[in-house]
Amino acid sequence: MPDQDHQPTFRWNATDYHRSSSAQQQWASELIQKLALTGTERVLDIGCGDGKITAELSQRLQKGSVVGVDSSPDMIGFARTHFPQSGYPNLSFAVKDARTLTFDEEFDIVFSNAALHWVTDHHPVLEGIQRALIPKGRMLIQMGGKGNAEQVFRELEVVVQNPRWSRYFDNFGFPYGFFDNEDYRSWVRAAGLDPVRSELIPKIMVHATRTDFAGWIRTTWLPYLERVPEPLHQDFIEDLIDHYLLMYPADTLGGIHIGMIRLEVEARKSPFCSNI
Ligand SMILES: C[S@@+](CC[C@H](N)C(=O)[O-])C[C@H]1O[C@@H](n2cnc3c(N)ncnc32)[C@H](O)[C@@H]1O
Repeated sequence: MPDQDHQPTFRWNATDYHRSSSAQQQWASELIQKLALTGTERVLDIGCGDGKITAELSQRLQKGSVVGVDSSPDMIGFARTHFPQSGYPNLSFAVKDARTLTFDEEFDIVFSNAALHWVTDHHPVLEGIQRALIPKGRMLIQMGGKGNAEQVFRELEVVVQNPRWSRYFDNFGFPYGFFDNEDYRSWVRAAGLDPVRSELIPKIMVHATRTDFAGWIRTTWLPYLERVPEPLHQDFIEDLIDHYLLMYPADTLGGIHIGMIRLEVEARKSPFCSNI
């Protein structure tokens, strides 16, 4: 895994993300179902973003609570404004980096959706999760995995080699941590957690319109967009979409299909393992 010190931070736009993230929300709802909550748990949501998933969790925790953490102050500001403690007394948010968590046996469950592939060194993340869980606590996380959005990356490769864009991509390295399930299982074990399940799950993301596809790129493909001057963002996005649709045309209803691979990992902390 690359060195965490080299990890850049990105300027998330929470308002735009909130409007353009129905696919992530759908996947999060499916993941929440798998938690089989009893309603009494204390949950940590890592990389909670705009907070709508964390708020959904809070509604299912009538006698429990949930804390959402995210490294983006814009995301946390949005989450606090839209899901305030006055309306959600069992929900709170904090600006925190997944690599430097300092919780100590405070949670029954650690959850994360569509966030941790933004981190390229998962050792400190998993160690922080291990410390944050009570003995017998469990972790359920899902993120982009090995092979995620491969066709989009293939077209991006072509686009960034175009002389119009190539000048902005000097020394550009692959920015995401899209990992293999077997590698991940060994890292989970190395962090002192017992792996239960670790699998790569293919999923198709469908954007109903070109505008929706553009919204997804604009709000989440930040490592690429932040290389390009802002006034050219829309041109860059349109160029990528043109290339993609030439290779992978929309369906008869105009829907645009993206092959995604999600890495889903479930683990437990041993009942005999205490931080004390
Ligand atoms: C695509 S959003 C997902 C948000 C939410 N979990 C959802 O499913 O809609 C990814 C989030 O991960 C957060 N993130 C990226 N790197 C992080 C890190 N090192 N620590 C904490 N959050 C991080 C980003 O700030 C962003 O809000």
